[in-house]
Amino acid sequence: RAFLQHVGRVTLVTVVGTTGVFYYYTQKDKHPGAQLPFDETKKTLVVLGSGWGASSLLKTIDTEDYNVVVVSPKNYFLFTPLLPSVAVGTISPRSIIQPTRHITRHKKRVVSVVEAEAKEVDPVAKTVTVQDTSEIRGLVTERTIPYDYLVVAVGAEVQTFGIEGVKEHACFMKELHDAEVVQRRFMDCVETAAFPGQSQEEIDRLLHVVVVGGGPTGVELSGELHDFLSEDLRSWYPELASRIRLTLVEALPSVLPMFSKQLIDYTVSTFKEEKIDVKTGTKVKKVKADAVVVEAKDGEKEIPCGLLVWAGGNKGRKVSMDLMAKFPTEQKNPRGISIDDHLRMKGSDGSIFALGDCTFSQYAPTAQVASQQGAYLARVLKQKAKRDALAVEFASLQKEELLQSPNAERKEKIEKIAKQLEKQEKVRPFSYSHQGSLAYIGSDKAIADLPIFNGNLASGGVATFLFWRSAYISTLFSLRNRVLVANDWIKVKLFGRDVSRD
Ligand code: FAD
Ligand code: NAI
Repeated sequence: RAFLQHVGRVTLVTVVGTTGVFYYYTQKDKHPGAQLPFDETKKTLVVLGSGWGASSLLKTIDTEDYNVVVVSPKNYFLFTPLLPSVAVGTISPRSIIQPTRHITRHKKRVVSVVEAEAKEVDPVAKTVTVQDTSEIRGLVTERTIPYDYLVVAVGAEVQTFGIEGVKEHACFMKELHDAEVVQRRFMDCVETAAFPGQSQEEIDRLLHVVVVGGGPTGVELSGELHDFLSEDLRSWYPELASRIRLTLVEALPSVLPMFSKQLIDYTVSTFKEEKIDVKTGTKVKKVKADAVVVEAKDGEKEIPCGLLVWAGGNKGRKVSMDLMAKFPTEQKNPRGISIDDHLRMKGSDGSIFALGDCTFSQYAPTAQVASQQGAYLARVLKQKAKRDALAVEFASLQKEELLQSPNAERKEKIEKIAKQLEKQEKVRPFSYSHQGSLAYIGSDKAIADLPIFNGNLASGGVATFLFWRSAYISTLFSLRNRVLVANDWIKVKLFGRDVSRD
């Protein structure tokens, strides 16, 4: 009892203390201090993108070394791993984004944030032409920005393989807006199915959700849709819930080809329990407004559906493809910008770097790779700045040595700087450290390919659920995001998901 009383008092102190620390950090974040202005003597670093790669670079870069300009059509960073949770209303869209200015306002030197799309890179003139493509436009909509170093981190767009009807009729799961559209359309299908007098056949069509692509995006979305159905829709639409069907279509013989067989089997058996119909070896040939045409071993058939979500993989963006076309000899792979092991664009003069999903390299297009590359590049750029400063000093001392009478002290200094320069010339190549892959598969179950347990961990229940959630909470961008996401999870636990359609 004494122990409990004692703990009681300590707990009280801890709670007050934690609240104080929490309050201090939020206020510190809310009121960033004054920043140094741009310095004309510094080189200009232009960063294209505000996603995983670019934001990690911005977080790590020392702005004392460069004048930094960020160009992106989105003025925020999106935490993609929780995007499928937004599509079913578990997480509010704003909880998983972090305004880019929250990152840049905390840097020592001011960072120019330009909300625009990079349209063209001129590697000879060393300029980027950017255009304001947002809804509201001023008198100036286009600018050409000069750069000394350029970082291309524009990510990828959804690969549709030019299949008829995909762009017109399918939803996607790539951007924040996509997740909101999926939620709205899904609820529209459910309410339309509830419309009085609807035929049985039409109800079945409207309540059939097809997810195309058995990669991690398609699998996680299917798991989330299942949870929404079993935890919420059953209560609020008891007459319809049992008729909602989920189908996952994959062209390859198996889903999640990048995971081990054990984890694939676990996913497939979980989906069977969750009544998700997994159709592997089935290729989508055409998407119609009310159906999908697929080709399998038993021939071609048309499957009626109300909602189709396309998660068919990645394809390079126009701006990166156009840039690649300027180096036809070195940039031949249509899957993305070829880079060397220092993230320099092959064929360029060393002033263009590329990272993340817009590149083609030995690494998978994942957030983990992009963010490690961003942090690596920030360190490389720091080293470059150091090297450049030493080179200037070296050149000026050498000039003095040439023009003035010999001086032992100066000579010693020149030798010392030469050694330092030699050291700074050696740039370590990028080396990726795989922290493991994790995918949520619904019903509080997740699969994990971790560098421990021989790379395989497949489990369900409270432990996995907590592991999955703690892994995501810890990798969220900011304290603000962590608080908002935790709050969303608590809200859903207490009140369930919101089924209203805005
Ligand atoms: P992005 O993060 O896509 O950023 C690209 C940026 O470029 C964006 O800010 C965009 O607005 C901007 N941009 C676009 N066009 C232009 C232009 N013309 N000019 C300037 N800027 C431009 N990976 C994992 O490792 N773990 C996961 O759990 C995981 N879950 C995922 C879930 C989903 C639903 C999706 C879609 C992906 C997931 N990924 C995951 C993959 C991960 O999101 C990507 O690998 C990662 O986003 C790549 O980072 P990036 O910086 O290259 O591109
Ligand atoms: P993906 O490329 O991994 O999977 C797309 C799937 O769609 C492929 O399996 C392909 O065969 C299938 N497909 C394409 N066209 C088809 C057609 N016409 N008919 C039927 N199937 C078709 O794409 P995804 O899932 O978007 O992932 C992209 C990247 O993001 C990957 O590198 C992935 O590792 C990463 N990611 C990681 C996550 C995680 O670690 N939890 C979650 C989501 C994405």
